[in-house]
Formats: sequence, C-alpha cells, structure tokens
Amino acid sequence: NTANTAGAGLSNVIRKKLMGYVGFANLPNQVHRKSVRKGFQFTAMVVGESGLGKSTLINTLFNTTLYPPKEPLPPAAERPKTVAIESIGADIEENGVRLHLTVVDTPGFGDFVNNDDSWKPIVENIESRFDSYLEQENRVNRIKIVDNRVHACLYFIQPTGHSLKQLDIEFMRRLHTKVNLIPIIAKADTLTDEEVAEFKERILADIAHHNIHIFQAPTYENEDEETLAEAEEIASKIPFAVVGSDKLVDTPDGRQVRGRAYPWGVVEVDNEEHCDFVKLRQMLVRTYMEELREYTNDVLYENWRTEKLLSMGVAQDSSVFKEINPAARLQEERVLHEAKLAKMEAEMKMVFQQKVQEKEAKLKQSEEELYARHKEMKDALEKQRIDLEDKKRKIESGRPLTPEKSSTTRKKGFLRT
Ligand code: GTP
Repeated sequence: NTANTAGAGLSNVIRKKLMGYVGFANLPNQVHRKSVRKGFQFTAMVVGESGLGKSTLINTLFNTTLYPPKEPLPPAAERPKTVAIESIGADIEENGVRLHLTVVDTPGFGDFVNNDDSWKPIVENIESRFDSYLEQENRVNRIKIVDNRVHACLYFIQPTGHSLKQLDIEFMRRLHTKVNLIPIIAKADTLTDEEVAEFKERILADIAHHNIHIFQAPTYENEDEETLAEAEEIASKIPFAVVGSDKLVDTPDGRQVRGRAYPWGVVEVDNEEHCDFVKLRQMLVRTYMEELREYTNDVLYENWRTEKLLSMGVAQDSSVFKEINPAARLQEERVLHEAKLAKMEAEMKMVFQQKVQEKEAKLKQSEEELYARHKEMKDALEKQRIDLEDKKRKIESGRPLTPEKSSTTRKKGFLRT
C-alpha cells in the first residue's frame, strides 16, 4: 500500500490549497538576502588583438577604471613572444550588492607573425581554473570554494567588414566547448550601419559553418512574453557591435554622455541607435550574469569534469558505490580484464591476418614467376621440336639439309662409287 502511494506520488502531483499563510512564499527573499550577504563572483575573459579596445570596454561595462590608462606598447622586438595571461580583480558594489569581478586579459593574442598556437595558453588557463575548482571540490573541507572559472569570454573581432579571419575561427573552435563565447565587433564606430549589418551576417554564417556554439540567452517554458521578447532582442544583436569610451563628452544638444566625439558628431555608447553596447551589458551583467555562471557550472565544467575523470580511469557516478562495495569493484575489474583480453585477441587476429596476407602475396608472386619460367621453357622446347621436325622432314624428303652439308655428302658419295 505504501509503495503504491509512493508510486502514485511520483507520477501525480497532488495540489492542495493551504488553509492559511505558512510562509514559504518568503523563500525567494531568504535566498535573495543570503546571496546579497555572500556577494557574487564573476570572471570575464577578454581576448582579441591588441588595440581593439578591450580595456576601454571593460571600464565602460563596469563603469569603473579597472584598467588604468596604459603605457604605449614596447617595440615589437621587446615584446614577449607568447600570449600572457593577466588577471585583475576588483570588488565593486551597487545598491548594497557586492560583486567580486575578475577580468582575465590575454595580451599578445594574435600579435605575432605566426599566430597558429595563440589559443593554446588560453585553453590551458581555462582548464587550469577548472582543475583548481575540481581540486577544491575533492577536498575534505569544501565549505569555502573559490570559483575562479571563466564565466564568459568576450572575443573581440577586428572591424574589417570582411569576414572572420582564420585566427578568429581557430580560437572559437578550440574554446567554444570550454567557455561561454560572446563575439564582439570592436570599434564599431569605424563601420557604417550597412557595413555592420553585412559584417554580422558573414560572421554568423562563418560561426554556423564551423559549428561553433556561442552563448545564447536561454529561454524556458512558461516564460512571460516580456522575457521572451528581451531574449529575442538580445539574440538579434549577436555579434554585438560595440563602441567603448570611459570619457564623458558633450553632445550638440547640451547633454553629457559617455561617447566618442568626432568632427561630424558624437557616438554615444549608451544609445541603442548608435551601437549594441546596452544589449551587451544586458546580456553580460544585467540579465544573464547568473545564467552565464550556471551554464559554466552545469554544462561546460560538468562536461570537462566527466572527461577528465573518465580519462583518469574513474567511472563517474558509481565511484562511491564501488569504494564501499568490493563485489562491484571486482565485477568492474573483471569487465576491464575481459575487455583487455578481447582487445588483445583482436590485435592478434589482426596480426595473423596481416601475416597470412603477406604470405599469400609472396606465394602468388613466386607462382607467377614459376609460371613465366615454365612458359619460357615450354616455348623453347616447342621451338626445338619445330626445328627438329623440320630437319626430319627434309631428311626424309632426301633434300640436302644445307648447301655446304649437301656438297660434302655429294662428294662423299662420289668417292665411294
Ligand atoms: P591592448 O591593451 O594593447 O591589448 O589594447 P586594448 O585592446 O586594451 O585597447 P585599449 O582599450 O587600450 O584601446 C586602444 C585604443 O583604441 C585607445 O586609443 C582607445 O581610446 C581606442 N578605442 C577604444 N575603444 C574604441 C572604440 O570603440 N572605437 C574607437 N574608434 N576607438 C576605441
């Protein structure tokens, strides 16, 4: 009976009306209070060739001078020969909510004559952050886990107006399973609206062609129309064409805005008609920061962790069970042993087949040689036979064999008589 009830409970949700206020409706507020108290950790990585405005954009996004004004780059010969990884951390606070923001910069990316391996140190850095998280998870005391994993990677595309470069494609192909990729067209104020639209189309086509997964604002079932519309609008702007500036400039109509002043007018960073900065901020900070963190944890990290543990020979979900159950461990060892035997057998079969094939080929070759020799001898014998028959016929018909021979014979005959 109990089992029946439990079974029924699993398949049907029994909806009950409450007789009065219980209080669990307050749960979201409890979570809210707790999260605010704990604060948040967020790590963003910026990748792109130097001078594309990475530092300026980060300063603009978080409205702070996280990156102080930079010294000019040293001459090419004095620059490091590999991609460096540098991170800057800052505690920022807005309306009482604390955010520990870390920005991981990758100076040197794409700046060399040969940029084939520019992606490598970046993948290694992302994986070492996963490693460190896994190590913390495996500790006896897991109370204070520091999450240094990269939650979003802003990839800056040069505003060429053509299409993606090999360097861009290679980077995204290598990284898209390890990090939330957010492609950005840098310094979009250098392109016209039409050029931006065409460039975006070509970028998206390249991304689709190479099966690259870029982060999309997620939508859930039963989502309200407003949220769906917002997600759609954000998605329609990818790759975000952005303009960065942490300076205030005066507009002709007397406003002070963050923007870039040109002789022909002002490009406003926060004006959606001028660039996609607002939508990028919405995606990265205002609406989907938590989704980015969640996707990193639930999908990207989880996949990496599974692969890592499997490669170390740990069967993921049954590991605890095996530790406490020797029979299960023996069974697994037996299965492994059998698999090893089967593999060895298959290998031996393959070697055997290969040897048989080699022997067969050799036999065939010597058979052919023998056949050729046999034919040669047969032809020679046949020729000899024909010659002999010819001679025989000539002798029988009493004709001289050859002119000299016949004269000798004749001479001999004459002497005898
Ligand atoms: P590295 O640190 O060398 O990798 O450069 P970076 O990518 O961080 O570029 P940074 O932010 O230092 O900007 C380089 C130059 O580009 C500066 O002179 C910025 O003022 C300028 N800049 C930044 N953002 C934009 C933009 O959106 N449009 C234009 N036209 N210039 C920009």
